[in-house]
Amino acid sequence: MITYNDAQKKFHIGNGIISYTISIQEELFAAHTYFGRYLTDGGDSTLPFPEWSTGPNPSQVKGRHFSLNTLPQEYPGHANGDYRESAFSIEYSDGSFASQFTYVDYEIIQGKPELDGLPQTRGGNENTETLIVTLHEERSNLFIELYYTIFETHPVMTRSTRLVNKGSEQVSINKLMSLSVDTLTSELELIQLPGSWARERSIVRHPLHRGVTKIDSKRGTTHHSYQPFLGLVSPQADEHSGDVYGFHFVYSGEFAAQVEVDEYDQTRIQMGINPEHFKWQLNSGEEFQTPEAVMVFSSEGLNGMSQALHSFYQSHLVRTDYQWKERPILINNWEATYFDFTEDKLLELAYEAKQLGIECVVLDDGWFGHRDDDTSSLGDWQVDSRKLPNGLGSLSEKIHEMGMLFGLWLEPEMISVDSELYNKHPDWVLKAKGRDPSRAREQLMLDYSKPEVRDYIVSTIDKLLNEVPVDYIKWDYNRNMTEHGTLSTDYMDGEVMHRNILGLYDVLDKLTTSYPSILWESCSGGGGRYDLGLLYYMPQTWASDNTDAVSRLSIQYGTSLVFPVSSMGAHVSDVPNHQVGRSTSLKMRHHVSMSGLLGYELDLSTLSAEEKSEVKKEIDWYKANRSLIQFGEFTRLLSPFNGKNEAAWTFTNKEKTQCIFFYFQILAEANDWFKTVKLKGLDENKRYVLEGTEQYYFGDELMYKGIVLDPMLKSDFSSRRLVFKAVK
Ligand code: DGJ
Repeated sequence: MITYNDAQKKFHIGNGIISYTISIQEELFAAHTYFGRYLTDGGDSTLPFPEWSTGPNPSQVKGRHFSLNTLPQEYPGHANGDYRESAFSIEYSDGSFASQFTYVDYEIIQGKPELDGLPQTRGGNENTETLIVTLHEERSNLFIELYYTIFETHPVMTRSTRLVNKGSEQVSINKLMSLSVDTLTSELELIQLPGSWARERSIVRHPLHRGVTKIDSKRGTTHHSYQPFLGLVSPQADEHSGDVYGFHFVYSGEFAAQVEVDEYDQTRIQMGINPEHFKWQLNSGEEFQTPEAVMVFSSEGLNGMSQALHSFYQSHLVRTDYQWKERPILINNWEATYFDFTEDKLLELAYEAKQLGIECVVLDDGWFGHRDDDTSSLGDWQVDSRKLPNGLGSLSEKIHEMGMLFGLWLEPEMISVDSELYNKHPDWVLKAKGRDPSRAREQLMLDYSKPEVRDYIVSTIDKLLNEVPVDYIKWDYNRNMTEHGTLSTDYMDGEVMHRNILGLYDVLDKLTTSYPSILWESCSGGGGRYDLGLLYYMPQTWASDNTDAVSRLSIQYGTSLVFPVSSMGAHVSDVPNHQVGRSTSLKMRHHVSMSGLLGYELDLSTLSAEEKSEVKKEIDWYKANRSLIQFGEFTRLLSPFNGKNEAAWTFTNKEKTQCIFFYFQILAEANDWFKTVKLKGLDENKRYVLEGTEQYYFGDELMYKGIVLDPMLKSDFSSRRLVFKAVK
């Protein structure tokens, strides 16, 4: 899949679906020449160069035609005549920061080398190949290794960077991006997924403009405000057609993702650890490995990109026993009781849940220490016997006896100031020396860069899990970092945020490897830390604290741009909704939640007999269809972001013999008329029956003529579910 043409000094990374090409210019510089749809042999042409360039000319090249300021590069340097954003910045021991790296070597290896201590995509059973391009600076004897891995059957590549110090001096890394890609054009539009608490991942699209557009996190971890993802699309691209390039970071810490359009209207895309708070001392003989970034290309529009990513993450990133296992339907007590529960109340909820067919009871925040609100006890992971006098083990046992699974909430990266743990170890927190940390929820972050903190957390959770049978863990995280720093004297503050994330990965690796049969779900004030780094350890994420069905249409639609449905927690909650005060129909709440990992989050005893029977029916339906919903092909049809008051999507199986269609109308219109929706991804030649009717359609008819929905949706917040099955 990876070839090197010595005569042309050209690398081609290609798998018949995508191509990525690099050419070595003037025998010294790794130039980027193409990324996109597969090209025979990676293309035959060479980069065009003008006879004369206004930019500075590197000393090694004769003539004024060649300048790094215009060369599309694989890994552009710093203070070397390229005035665009650099991919790295290194400070040398004498205080200098100009670098002059040049290409020296390459290696092509079978498979995908492991990244030590970082989450990463795996080759799995698939044929993968990796190209390593090495750049070197003579003066410092530093080496930069660029890693490119291609997968045989996916339109996807991964990239990462390693800096190796073979010199005799310590250097300081101020910036080391995982990925940098230059294109010759800026006729592209940028798609990003910004949000906020309870408004996660809206799809925002805008043309590129001159200068730098940057999204990032300076909060210690990823956050609701931006997803570490950049999409670049041709202006004509839509959900179903057109060229789409995606760049997605496998990291949970502070990131930067940016696009620069330069003076020649060329575009530079970069992604990596955010340099804002980052500074890493690299001693002689040491190396630094960046996290990896995923690159994807589709010529079939945004759905094409999303489906490629869903399938890739599901098969190459997600792990634990739940990778392909159907996810249980759960009831979470958070919106049902908040902090105010007793064992009896929980058992009553469990009993009601069992009657309806729910499979797992999750005990959320408030079961430990003396936590009656969010101001205390994080770190004291011992049961609160005021609320659970018989202990957690007894509750778990009783729930298991009812034939259900038992799940538990934890927030293990945090420590409340009002806690025994803080009294004992005030030095275990992340904070800048001599500064008072800002408070959020009266809690501070534990310093996971410290081995003793990690050991304490792993052994505490280990002990808990040995005493109490737990089948599911919700791993929450509810504050952002401030006053970045560490009380450790072993390293400088600039290293602590990355070291903290590496510490988190170490803890998660130990726990999820020791307990692969537990269903791990990540959460951060809802979907604040929905990222690929955590998805590697925990196969699902609580998508948002906003459980309103209308809000969820947009949140889940946006989330699906990059994340598979099998990762998306979605619960039916009470009305009026606790976040927005809206009352939506039970049917619509079900249809929205069952478009993800269905769960419930309300006091089931308040439902009427009629509502309970509806819930039971929906649960039975979901159980029969969840394998298709959780692991089938998801296609977005109508966007809630286009202001048309509706949304629609489908789930289709691999054989294209079954398709579940959901349509949502937000507000009813007077005198409304028929609506036509064209389905996608079916077999043109198959004949389908609409379940529950004698109505038959050919696949081409469903896709090119569409289905006609009659104007019977006569109330706000209505929805439809139609199931098409192929007949012989
Ligand atoms: C934030 C989560 O998103 C909620 O679901 C809930 O678990 C609370 N934390 C508990 O404090």
